[in-house]
Amino acid sequence: MKPNRIIQGDALAELKKLPAAVAQAVIADPPYFNVLENEAWDTQWKTAADYLAWCDEWVAESMRVLRDDGLAFIFGQLGKREHTFLHLMSRLSQQHQFHDLIIWDRAVGYDERRDSFTPQYEMILVLRKGDAVKFNKGSVRLPYDAATIETYLKDKRYKDKDARRAHLEKGKYATNILRVPSLKGASKEKCGHPSQKPINLIDKLIACATDVGDLVIDPFLGSGTTAAAAQRLDRQWLGIEKDSAYIEIAKKRLAADSSLFSKS
Ligand SMILES: C[S@@+](CC[C@H](N)C(=O)[O-])C[C@H]1O[C@@H](n2cnc3c(N)ncnc32)[C@H](O)[C@@H]1O
Repeated sequence: MKPNRIIQGDALAELKKLPAAVAQAVIADPPYFNVLENEAWDTQWKTAADYLAWCDEWVAESMRVLRDDGLAFIFGQLGKREHTFLHLMSRLSQQHQFHDLIIWDRAVGYDERRDSFTPQYEMILVLRKGDAVKFNKGSVRLPYDAATIETYLKDKRYKDKDARRAHLEKGKYATNILRVPSLKGASKEKCGHPSQKPINLIDKLIACATDVGDLVIDPFLGSGTTAAAAQRLDRQWLGIEKDSAYIEIAKKRLAADSSLFSKS
């Protein structure tokens, strides 16, 4: 199977053609179901039941292509009124092994609601395939600020100050609330997809769940964020997307990214 390419087609049909147990991670940001009401790809199911049944199928195929120690990350959000993702998380956690629920804290609210707090997060359900998973916990860290480091260095229990400083300067392990600002309209990173995810968020998922050279599959590639992140982290990738306009956006982006991040 040739990696580092975009397959134009339907996620379910194309996943079925792939061999089993090839991917170390699946990163899937599927249609939400009637959240982006102006996007035909988000309103293609008559009922929530139809949407959930479709999700059962592509998630089963995603788990099939995953290695035994791999992780599948599945994005979802609550819309203005919709709660379909809650049902999806519940049924997928019964069909597969639940691993984690990551909160993507978008740093700013994204939708004006008059009768509740403004939504600010999306969710990432993480499923595992086997009992042991590859997870590079130290690869995603949160830096301490200088004042905090100086305070911690006063702790008399640590005799070797240089070793202690080096340890603190690595930062602390990230929590499962990942704060990465969502892309503003004027962001340089924005490339014309209505639900483009920040590359810094996808980087974190790939860095912790894979090693250099591992394969990452994204069945709903959109503007190519997963591919761009995998490319710059030296992972292999495979993306599926049905819309040719988004594929063109992704290809342009990947060509630009590879010149930006190519190794000398
Ligand atoms: C939420 S967006 C993904 C955005 C992407 N993560 C990014 O950062 O650009 C979902 C994508 O799935 C695509 N899509 C919808 N139904 C599909 C299907 N059955 N097979 C493949 N792609 C599909 C849409 O065209 C859309 O680009």
